[in-house]
Amino acid sequence: MKTSTKLAAIAVLGLTMIAGMASADVVDTRQKGFKAHVGNMKAVQAAVESGNAAAAVDPAKAMLAYAESIPSLFPEGSGEGETRALPAIWSDWAGFEKAASNHVAAVEKLVAMAESGDASALGDQLKATGGTCGACHKAYRAEKK
Ligand code: HEC
Repeated sequence: MKTSTKLAAIAVLGLTMIAGMASADVVDTRQKGFKAHVGNMKAVQAAVESGNAAAAVDPAKAMLAYAESIPSLFPEGSGEGETRALPAIWSDWAGFEKAASNHVAAVEKLVAMAESGDASALGDQLKATGGTCGACHKAYRAEKK
């Protein structure tokens, strides 16, 4: 092998490794993010149960920030390795973005209901929000192994 060819091969290998690492990082970031998302959802649920909607404002806002970031956490090529992300995310990116924006819209209302102070309306909106989690999971997340 000529030296230049060898160097090119090494460069390609290096880039592949970096891409692989970046992908593992983003998978880790989004999986931790989803765990925190559930934690915030539970905090909203607790606020509903105690009838104190105001306690849901901060966790609902944290949910909104994460919800808005979801599409950016699924770059092309991050469907490999320890992930339950289905290939449909990338083969049907428009559908995935739609599922994400439906979720954002639901969480925006969740924030509004928390701010309104109406715990019963907040509870209803929490259920509606949960529906948008499930809709995305059904189409774009693999079953647990
Ligand atoms: C737009 C799509 C979408 C929406 C909306 C969504 N999820 Fe997910 N979720 C996914 C995908 C895809 C994965 C798999 C990620 C992976 O393994 O790389 C996932 C993974 C998870 C996980 C597992 C994380 C782990 O430990 O591996 C939990 C828990 C979760 N989601 C909860 C939620 C909750 C709760 C909501 C709503 C409040 C929600 N998700 C909304 C697509 C979505």
